[in-house]
Amino acid sequence: MAEKMKIMVINGPNLNMLGVREVGIYGSESYADLEALIENYANENGIEATVLQSNSEGEIIDFIHHALGNYDGIIINPGAYTHYSYAIHDALISVNLPTVEVHISNVYKREEFRHKSVTAPACTGQIAGLGFRGYLLAMDYLSGEATDSAKN
Ligand code: DQA
Repeated sequence: MAEKMKIMVINGPNLNMLGVREVGIYGSESYADLEALIENYANENGIEATVLQSNSEGEIIDFIHHALGNYDGIIINPGAYTHYSYAIHDALISVNLPTVEVHISNVYKREEFRHKSVTAPACTGQIAGLGFRGYLLAMDYLSGEATDSAKN
């Protein structure tokens, strides 16, 4: 049997506060609910997903470095670091893995400072505003990519 695709899911600062923070924007489901959603979907689809969260930039960079050689793709929601972390941008460029940036909220409908992502140019693509489903759609994309490249 073919080996399972391995995806690292990285959530940045304040995402551990889901269900508590700005529920009108992020919804009432908790971070544990998000983890369970991703893990169940991965299991149903034959994907091995590791779901990580950190409030510190350096730790997120260490996660990204660890993905190299150990994972086939990355899903990252860098939280507010999206808007100013050149260090996370450079880490993503360094490992050069298929990567999808996910935002739960539609950042383009919100404050101006959220309209700019400095990390998205280091990613394959971005999903914003589709709630928790964005993570599942990102998994669909990455697993489709792996299947396509196996065919070629
Ligand atoms: C977010 C959007 C960011 O602007 C914000 O700082 C977050 C969450 C989202 O998932 O919608 O922490 O990345």
